[in-house]
Amino acid sequence: MNGSFNEENLSPEEEKRMLIEDDLDLLREDLVGELQAINQYQEHIESLGSEEAAATLEHIIEEEKEHVAELVKLIQSLDPVQADKFREVS
Ligand SMILES: [Fe+2]
Repeated sequence: MNGSFNEENLSPEEEKRMLIEDDLDLLREDLVGELQAINQYQEHIESLGSEEAAATLEHIIEEEKEHVAELVKLIQSLDPVQADKFREVS
């Protein structure tokens, strides 16, 4: 069918780009999850009575921040526009 736009009409490059966009969707969701986890752990630290538990959550927050950095790096490697934006602001 002439003029229709579906995956069968995509060039290999367009198909590859679509797969990358699908991966980026998932990775951005994962990034949101990591940031929300940091906020939740922080909230819980402020409510916890146990100093040991609070210290453990502080440690976990540090790991989550590492996960944020890893995901941002991965997203930049797949999204050249995002990579440019990070360069512009750093
Ligand atoms: Fe994490």
